[in-house]
Amino acid sequence: MANDLLKGKRGIITGALDANSIAWKVAEKAHEQGAVFVLTNAPIAMRMGEINALAEKTNSKIIPADATSIEDLTKLFTEAQEVLGGKIDFVLHSIGMSVNIRKNIPYTESNYDYFAKGIDVSAMSLHKMLAVAKKMDAISEWGSVVALTYMAAQRTYPFYTDMADIKAMLESIARSFGYHYGVEKKVRINTVSQSPTKTTAGTGIKGFGDFYDFADSIAPLGNASAEDCANYCVTLFSDLTRMVTMQNLFHDGGYSSTGVSSEILSKMGEE
Ligand SMILES: NC(=O)c1ccc[n+]([C@@H]2O[C@H](COP(=O)([O-])OP(=O)(O)OC[C@H]3O[C@@H](n4cnc5c(N)ncnc54)[C@H](O)[C@@H]3O)[C@@H](O)[C@H]2O)c1
Repeated sequence: MANDLLKGKRGIITGALDANSIAWKVAEKAHEQGAVFVLTNAPIAMRMGEINALAEKTNSKIIPADATSIEDLTKLFTEAQEVLGGKIDFVLHSIGMSVNIRKNIPYTESNYDYFAKGIDVSAMSLHKMLAVAKKMDAISEWGSVVALTYMAAQRTYPFYTDMADIKAMLESIARSFGYHYGVEKKVRINTVSQSPTKTTAGTGIKGFGDFYDFADSIAPLGNASAEDCANYCVTLFSDLTRMVTMQNLFHDGGYSSTGVSSEILSKMGEE
């Protein structure tokens, strides 16, 4: 369904690692809707090379950048404007990594160096991106920045460990920066709180498969797919949502508003 919702818009899309990545789908959908953009990821993630196929498909340039490096981010915003021929209209922050999760370390025994690394990569990177962009005045008025998050920022999910606290910080940065950037430049900043999704980051979490099925059984509409999430992000990049900012927006098939479903109750009754 191509109706040029993003025609004439220039973007930066982070986090497309492989075809399962939410960012990959966002790039495909944004391309379908007429946007031009650059793709970026950590230099180490590029070595896998899969992003080249996406770049070819969407006719995009790849600019490697470690999202924790101010130097890399400055280069990213400078080159993106050169390549795309003007200020940036939308940015997708789709970056998440916890060493504590990767190493299966329980929350109460979190390693603090890993914790700090997780904060830097997954939350502070949004602040750094926005600070760099604001200093350079690289995002156009009414531009839209979307970061992906998860509901563990509001409710406890034991397996999500330090990422719960990190996502709470990410959502707070979106609100705080959204105020300042909104007042000064009318730039909009929101987080999208997405259903469990089968990606590299998602399936790296212990017990993800069972939890995916649990969430699917609770949500009246079922889990939202990566493709659905991409469609939602496109609407947030578009001018149709220009007064939406500083929000954490649930995109989860109704999961976050459901206490329990008949499906789960009948499954428990079978035991
Ligand atoms: N998969 C889920 O269940 C789910 C649910 C809700 C929210 N999210 C969020 O969606 C976002 C995208 O994750 P995904 O599920 O598509 O997984 P993914 O593994 O495909 O994407 C994560 C990306 O972060 C990138 N990254 C890691 N360190 C980086 C760094 N230092 N600099 C730049 N990029 C770096 C990785 O290379 C990768 O491309 C994350 O913020 C994640 O927390 C995922």
